[in-house]
Amino acid sequence: MSVVIHGHGPAPAQGSVPLVLLHGFPLDRRMWDGVIEHLDGVPIYAVDLPGFGAAADAAEPTGATLESFADALAQALHERGVQQAVIAGLSMGGYVLLAFIERHPQLLAGVGLLDTKASADTVEARAARLAVARNALDEAGSGAVAAMIESLVGPATVSTRPAVVEQLRSWLADAPPPGIAAAQRAMAVRPDRLEVLRALDVPALVLRGEQDSLSGPEEHEAMAALLNTEVVTVPDVGHMSAVEDAASVAEALADLHRRASAQ
Ligand code: MLT
Repeated sequence: MSVVIHGHGPAPAQGSVPLVLLHGFPLDRRMWDGVIEHLDGVPIYAVDLPGFGAAADAAEPTGATLESFADALAQALHERGVQQAVIAGLSMGGYVLLAFIERHPQLLAGVGLLDTKASADTVEARAARLAVARNALDEAGSGAVAAMIESLVGPATVSTRPAVVEQLRSWLADAPPPGIAAAQRAMAVRPDRLEVLRALDVPALVLRGEQDSLSGPEEHEAMAALLNTEVVTVPDVGHMSAVEDAASVAEALADLHRRASAQ
């Protein structure tokens, strides 16, 4: 079980910390490319989680958990000599970050939870994940996630940003079947982790695309309340806020990084 970290921008200066970006399902680090273009001067580590991108070979279809993803990230940061980082995760990346907060809070200088939720799955959602996992491995391959495009972007993106929709469609087609299966099984067994935020005392960002149909405003408000912050709502975008409006998400992440570096 391992992650692959890709560095961008300057090396972290004395007193600064890297901004670590965790992608959503079933994408890889490339979903952050647009955001990174707007983050001049910020040391960035874009991560490929196990089973995706350059870490595609690290999928463990039967034994993966979000805890093992979080531990693999902590290990990779340790190997780079990182003592503290600002970590931001979108959707599945947020679930991994919540497991990381529970297990490695001392490594955190700031947290960003984007288009995600701290609650566990319903019984129906869990069953649907296990069906996608089986389908990806049995016959459909990456076709098992093709229909996700409907829920990833908001209506404003569908009508005004066709290139973004096509980009996401092609990333869905690239998703490695063992990675799809491992991540779905890992997400299916994740517990409710809202309470892990209560003890965390670092600068925080909670951000949601206004048209996100997969993680609702109340989920974000619950997380923001425990982190003593307000939800940042990005207008006219859906679940993939960071891809649909990279400039606005970059601005919010730059502000988080500044607040965490000033501590
Ligand atoms: C994601 O974007 O990472 C997924 O929507 C997460 C999920 O399936 O819950």
